[in-house]
Amino acid sequence: MQVRRVGVVGCGLMGGGIAQVTATAGLETIVREVDEATLQRGLQAIEERLDRAVARQRLEKGERDAIRARLRGTTELEQLAACDLVIEAVTEQKQVKLELFRALDAVCPPETLLASNTSSLSITEMAVATRRPHRFLGLHFFNPVPVMQLVEVVRTLLTEPEAVEAGCAFARTLGKTPVVARDRPGFIVNRLLVPYLLDAIRVYDEGLASIEDIDEAMRLGCGYPMGPFTLLDFVGLDTTYYIANVFFEEFREPRYAPPTLLKQMVLAGRLGRKSGRGFYDYGG
Ligand code: 3HC
Repeated sequence: MQVRRVGVVGCGLMGGGIAQVTATAGLETIVREVDEATLQRGLQAIEERLDRAVARQRLEKGERDAIRARLRGTTELEQLAACDLVIEAVTEQKQVKLELFRALDAVCPPETLLASNTSSLSITEMAVATRRPHRFLGLHFFNPVPVMQLVEVVRTLLTEPEAVEAGCAFARTLGKTPVVARDRPGFIVNRLLVPYLLDAIRVYDEGLASIEDIDEAMRLGCGYPMGPFTLLDFVGLDTTYYIANVFFEEFREPRYAPPTLLKQMVLAGRLGRKSGRGFYDYGG
């Protein structure tokens, strides 16, 4: 099956990025938010990114207008009924996602593929909340979505091979590279990335080196684009804390347990770039 019309639920950092890349790839895109003000903020952020691309001569004005014309916003879930694929990118709360998928299952025809962009919750649990678990999969994008080349395509015991293939073909249509993973917490990237980030906090906390020097070491010593503390601030300390807790719950291994310093920074509201301060100060 070929995906031509895409629905995206959520127009925040991830949903807005996903909607941008699907419209850019020539697919009719409809993005849904909970209310008009949130929707307009999300669409505005997409518009600003496209304008910046035009200003940097990476995008023609005419192409920007065509992308904009392929992208439609709505506050009504029913408007997603005609989509071949609907990707959920709402807040990382299980109950919110389960309710949403039950509603989408009622709205969309049986052949529509449903996908979640969750970074840590069980795809299987969401799949079995619908009457189409065979047409349900994970499509996990990375931040910033327009830049990062990877999409993790996540299959459960119930996902049919055609749905996995459609997910991979869809990722390639976006100009991205798919990798297939089984439904385990964190899939591939976060399963390996999050323990590394937690270790960075632990070695800093034990006085090994300064935040700046640890970042510099991993950037220059390993060629990583960002050191672990820059990346923690970028991803969000609350998000990392949440994922670490999900891992610890599932695997019961100390290496996944969130360090006390991480917990305290989250409690103190130092969430990273989004709150103006995390391990670094962004003047907000
Ligand atoms: N949105 C769109 N485009 C962006 C962007 C954003 N938020 N941030 C940067 N870009 C674009 C720039 O426009 C620029 O494009 P151009 O070269 O065509 O003009 C390009 O990216 C490079 O940007 P910069 O030169 O400003 O900055 P850098 O070279 O430092 O690159 C970066 C920025 C791409 C963010 C790079 O630092 C990087 O790759 N960092 C690591 C990001 C990462 O690891 N992400 C994964 C996080 S884990 C995750 O998402 C999983 C989740 O489940 C937690």
